[in-house]
Amino acid sequence: MATYKIAVLPGDGTGPEVTVEAVKVLKAAAETFNFKVDLTEFDFGGERYKRTGETLPDSGIEELRKFDAILLGAIGHPDVAPGILEKGILLKARFELDQYINLRPVRLYPGVETPIKGKGPDEVDFVVVRENTGDAYTGTGGFTMRGTPQEVAVQSAVYSRFQVDRCLKYAFEYTKKYGKKARAKGEKNTLALCGKTNVLTFIYDLWERAFHEMGKAEYPDIERDYYHVDATCMWMVKNPEWFDVIVTGNMFGDIITDLGAMVQGGMGIAAGGNINPEGVSMFEPIGGSAPKYTGKGVINPLAAICAAQMMLETLGEEDAAIKIEDTVKFITANKLKSLQAGRMGYSTAEVGDLVAEKLCD
Ligand code: IPM
Ligand code: MN
Repeated sequence: MATYKIAVLPGDGTGPEVTVEAVKVLKAAAETFNFKVDLTEFDFGGERYKRTGETLPDSGIEELRKFDAILLGAIGHPDVAPGILEKGILLKARFELDQYINLRPVRLYPGVETPIKGKGPDEVDFVVVRENTGDAYTGTGGFTMRGTPQEVAVQSAVYSRFQVDRCLKYAFEYTKKYGKKARAKGEKNTLALCGKTNVLTFIYDLWERAFHEMGKAEYPDIERDYYHVDATCMWMVKNPEWFDVIVTGNMFGDIITDLGAMVQGGMGIAAGGNINPEGVSMFEPIGGSAPKYTGKGVINPLAAICAAQMMLETLGEEDAAIKIEDTVKFITANKLKSLQAGRMGYSTAEVGDLVAEKLCD
């Protein structure tokens, strides 16, 4: 029987309470689908930082390397200045563990309200593959004459061919395996590159050339589309059904995946994976720590449960992952009144129970 060593980082705010529910579902899935999870909890987050001044120390990174995957609750604390925990924990893990893919499914589940009139689960069903280590996130740049009227600040968008190629490879492979058209209708799958070749004429020129070269040579059965990032935002709202898999750079990916989260019903449901296909990946609900709801038992744990679902899919427990997703769909369609905190008609723990019990049916 396979045993997966999972590092659990509940983090800040409502992170711990949604993580408890994700772990509940994980344990239920393990029982039903005959695998084992060996969980180890770590307290990296705002409270520890306030106590010790430590975010995610190098020794912590070395610890995390020993696991098969990481399940993260939320990072962000009202008493800690913005940027410290994000940079010290989330971005540090992404960079040090070389989690070069940020995978963000944008799926509207049945019964979930979308702000987009006239669109339902059939139309909102795509995935964003965001490059997760390059671009403006590399910290390349700096200030000159800081604090003077002549101050100059530069922060460069940086991409190497290596980074672009490995991200594209993942995106093509993902499209081949999970593209929605192949799943549903036996049509061609489509991978769309989201860029800005009309202005960022260096980095997105590199992306575009690499995209077509790889597509033509290695994935002739996958259709290739291209959209500028501004147009991508338009079409995600107007015609989300056009998209199957979208691949893009780190900065554009950050922005369009928040738009995606809203299109799929908000932070109560949106999950993401920081993936190193050859190493240790980290899965998280993308909603943040929502400090005002902490300890009230009203926050929606489905996003954290979906993060656990993505983790199992990546670990190769596909049947369990499919069953969790189907169960979440059943719950959104038949049980929850709303995805919003305090309006679900159930407490945080009750939603976890609903999913876990239905899994064992
Ligand atoms: C995300 C977040 C992070 C990012 C922040 C918290 C650093 O917005 O995961 O999308 O910009 O990548
Ligand atoms: Mn973001």
